[in-house]
Amino acid sequence: MGKFQVIDHPLIQHKLTIIRDKNTGTKVFREVVNEIAMLMAYEVSRDMPLEDIEIETPVAQSTQKTLTGKKVAIVPILRAGLGMVDGILELIPAAKVGHVGLYRDEETLQAHEYFFKMPEDIDNRQIFVVDPMLATGGSAIMAIDSLKKRGASNIKFVCLVAAPEGVRALQEAHPDIDIFTAALDDHLNKHGYIVPGLGDAGDRLFGTK
Ligand code: URA
Repeated sequence: MGKFQVIDHPLIQHKLTIIRDKNTGTKVFREVVNEIAMLMAYEVSRDMPLEDIEIETPVAQSTQKTLTGKKVAIVPILRAGLGMVDGILELIPAAKVGHVGLYRDEETLQAHEYFFKMPEDIDNRQIFVVDPMLATGGSAIMAIDSLKKRGASNIKFVCLVAAPEGVRALQEAHPDIDIFTAALDDHLNKHGYIVPGLGDAGDRLFGTK
């Protein structure tokens, strides 16, 4: 079973409270989502492999560490996942970005794919699938299904707020992936919203309703 980690750093928890607050407007919401994503990227990338290289400092010859291994692709699930991309790129600027477009049928809560565009070496990259909300898990499961069908194998899922129902569903469908969240909330309500949650992440990011 992959890892499930709540990243409970005080800075992240503080910023999460700001975006949960219904009085936080679009501009601040967008900025703080990116800040949280950047801070999470620090922890999500903790197991990136390093190798030794020889360099010369102004003072001496020295063996030092440099990143090696797979390059990263960030894959936001449209549209709310877009809100996390710039924050992660702050820390991993060489990452490529693929997009999965899914919409949720408001009645059945089922996810449908309408767009899929990836870097061509996706099978050879460490992939961070990002979506602020892990609710039923339907979108995350479908996005990861699509990625695996195209040869991707090294996948982590990163969200801001998760419902226990979504975590369970994602772990059952894809037991090999690691899941990172900033919070594990109480439950889903009958409309598919996470409680207490933060409302509709896409609407709050883009100022729609
Ligand atoms: N998607 C959202 O944006 N918010 C929720 O609470 C659940 C799914």
